[in-house]
Amino acid sequence: MKLKDKISIVTGAAQGIGRGIADRFVKEGAFVAVSDYKEPRTKLLSGQQFFQGDVSDPALWIRITSRLLEEHGQIHVLVNNAAIIQHARVHEVQLEDWNRALAVNLTSVMLGMRAVIPGMLTNGGGSIINLSSIWGSVAAPGAASYHATKAGVAHLTKNAAVTYAKNNIRVNAIHPGAIHTPMMEEMPKDTLAWVISQTPEGRTGNPRISPLALSISQATRQRSSLARSCGSTVATPRSEHQHWTKRESWECYASRLLRRSPNKGGRLKADSCIRGFWN
Ligand SMILES: NC(=O)c1ccc[n+]([C@@H]2O[C@H](COP(=O)([O-])OP(=O)(O)OC[C@H]3O[C@@H](n4cnc5c(N)ncnc54)[C@H](O)[C@@H]3O)[C@@H](O)[C@H]2O)c1
Repeated sequence: MKLKDKISIVTGAAQGIGRGIADRFVKEGAFVAVSDYKEPRTKLLSGQQFFQGDVSDPALWIRITSRLLEEHGQIHVLVNNAAIIQHARVHEVQLEDWNRALAVNLTSVMLGMRAVIPGMLTNGGGSIINLSSIWGSVAAPGAASYHATKAGVAHLTKNAAVTYAKNNIRVNAIHPGAIHTPMMEEMPKDTLAWVISQTPEGRTGNPRISPLALSISQATRQRSSLARSCGSTVATPRSEHQHWTKRESWECYASRLLRRSPNKGGRLKADSCIRGFWN
């Protein structure tokens, strides 16, 4: 059990990638606060507790953290996964929608980190994983608010990673490419066709981000070198490096990173990261 007795929060975990992470975490021994504004699509597992609410509402964070600290004394892992997508191009954006995207996709990430970091500082560390997107670094047409907020998540993650590095709080972002989830089903058909045409395998991926999230969350400080050496962000094969569809490419990527961070911890992390992607 890789996360035995680790107290975790996963937002947007009623479905999709968040649910995959929440389910994998309990299978590895963690207790998971599953948060979403919608009811979970499938029955919760033993070791999961549901907190219904809006991630952009500071009151939700007070409710979750105070309950977890009261009942478990500590929060070890936070996964900021909840997000919405809007497909409007810049000239079509409604201000109200834009502000909502900022609140749900970006402000919530700050609120979540703000809520757990004081406890992590007191307890000697923790792990925070923020879901960004390929569209936080590479542009596609349309979805202006999504691009802007996901780029914000990526850079806020780097800022927090650097700020708390000496406090043993590891802050990483995952940047998925096109993953088949309910969010993807909302995508206009022509946009989806374009996205798939840009993907070497010519298909969307399965929501199997969980091995990567697991790998990052369980890593000790020593073993987080790979994530740190790529600027505290980790990309999936279909995102930042979408032309890399083979394991050999990841090995090549890892060895490039390891030249920058040649310690033993870096080697271990690179290896587990590659296995995380391809198992
Ligand atoms: N699916 C993809 O192709 C893809 C690609 C890149 C990044 N991502 C990112 O991965 C994460 C998960 O995406 P997904 O595809 O599983 O999406 P999804 O729409 O299937 O799931 C998102 C979940 O977040 C919840 N949510 C939305 N707004 C909320 C709010 N205000 N408060 C609480 N919960 C809220 C939804 O109810 C839903 O359960 C998101 O951050 C998304 O941006 C997904």
